[in-house]
Amino acid sequence: MLLNPIIEKAWSTILDASSILYKAVIRTPLIHNAFISKITRNYVYLKLENLQVTGSFKVRGAYYKIYKNLEIARNKGVVTASSGNHAQGVAYAASILGVDATVVMPETAPPFKINSTKSYGAKVILHGSIYDDAYRKAMEIVNETGAIFIHPFNDIDIIAGQGTIGLEIIEQLSNVDAVIVPIGGGGLISGVGVALKKLKPGVKVIGVEPSNAAKYFASRKAGVMSTIEPKISIADGVVTKSVGDLTYEIMNEVVDDVITVDEESIARAIYVLMERAKIIVEGAGALPAAALLDGNLNYQNKTIALVISGGNIDLATLYKILIKGLAHDNRITNIRVVLRDVHGELLKVLKVLHKYRCNIIDIRHDRFNLKVPVGHALVEIFIEIPDVDVVDKIRNELVDLGVTIWEK
Ligand SMILES: Cc1ncc(COP(=O)(O)O)c(C=O)c1O
Repeated sequence: MLLNPIIEKAWSTILDASSILYKAVIRTPLIHNAFISKITRNYVYLKLENLQVTGSFKVRGAYYKIYKNLEIARNKGVVTASSGNHAQGVAYAASILGVDATVVMPETAPPFKINSTKSYGAKVILHGSIYDDAYRKAMEIVNETGAIFIHPFNDIDIIAGQGTIGLEIIEQLSNVDAVIVPIGGGGLISGVGVALKKLKPGVKVIGVEPSNAAKYFASRKAGVMSTIEPKISIADGVVTKSVGDLTYEIMNEVVDDVITVDEESIARAIYVLMERAKIIVEGAGALPAAALLDGNLNYQNKTIALVISGGNIDLATLYKILIKGLAHDNRITNIRVVLRDVHGELLKVLKVLHKYRCNIIDIRHDRFNLKVPVGHALVEIFIEIPDVDVVDKIRNELVDLGVTIWEK
C-alpha cells in the first residue's frame, strides 16, 4: 500500500483537509454502546456522523472541495447532482463560504430532501426521472457556466474530506481493532481507510453494502469494477450502479473485507440504534450496525468502531420501522375478531384487553368483507402488550366468551 502514489496523494490531502475542516465541521463524538457490545461480545463504539452539521458526514468533503477552489467557486458557483446527503452538504458548505450552489435532483426526489437542500440556500433544479438524467443536466450547466462540479465521491478532495473521520477515530480510540463503514460510491471508506491504514496499519477496514446494491461486493468478486442494476433499498444513500474508478483503486488497497446485509437487517439495526443507543440513523448509516448484529463478522472481544454516517431519515419511514420492530419484539400485536355489529359486543373484547393491561393503539372495522356473515363486522385491534404470554390468555378468554377469532 505504501508504494501506491494515489494512496500517498490521498493521505497528504487528508492531512491538509484536517487542517481546514476542524474550524468548519463538528468533531463528532465516538461513544461506547453497551447493548451492541454485550450481544456481539465486543467493545463497540459509534462514530456519530448523524450529529454532523446537515445530519451526515457529506459536509466534510463538500466543504473542503469548495474551500480549495474558493476563488473560482465565488465567481462561477458550484453545481452538483444528488438527491441525498451530498446535496445538503454542498448546499450548506457553499452557503457558509459565500458561494452560489445549484443542485440538480431527479423529479422523483423525496420532497423532504428537496426542501432541506433549499433551506440551506441552494438553487434546486428538478430534472429527469433518475440520477443519470440529473447528472447530465448538471454537466450541461457546468459546461455553460464554468461552475465547479462537486462529485459525490470520485474526487480526491472529497475522499480526503471524508477521510478526516478516520483521523478522529484513531485520536478518540487508539486501541481500535476494526472499523466498519458503509459503501455507496466509495468516497467515505476510501478516505477513512487510507487514514486508518496510515496511522495504524493493523486496523481492519470492513465495508458494508445492502444486498440490493452490492456493487463493490460484485466488483471484488469479479476482480474488475462492475456495474449493477441496484434495487430499491432503505439504505437509499448508498444505492449507486457502481463505485468510482478512483475509489475502486483506493478501496482495493485499504478495504480488508466487504459484506452485504439484507433489508430486514438494516431495518432492525435502525430500530436497535434508536431503542438502545437513543440515536436516529438513516438506512445507510445503519449498515455497519446491521453487519455486526447479523453475526457474520466472527469478531469476539474486539474493539470496533461503527461509522454511523448519517441520520437523515424521513419520519414516515422511521414510524414504519418502529412499528415493525415493536411487533418483532412482541411488544405490539394485533387480534382479529368477528363480532355481531350491535351495541356492547366490542365492549366485551375491550374488557378482556383491559384485564391484561393492554394499551389499544388502533381499532379497524371491516363491514364489507364478503366472507364475514351479514350483520357482523371484522374488527382488528392493534395492542401494546405488557408481555408475550398474555396473547394466548386473551385469545382463550375471548373464545370462552363466544367471540370468534378470525384466523384467515
Ligand atoms: C448516510 C450515508 N452513508 C454512507 C454513504 C456512502 O458514501 P460514499 O458514497 O462516499 O461511499 C452515503 C452517500 O451518500 C450516505 O449518504
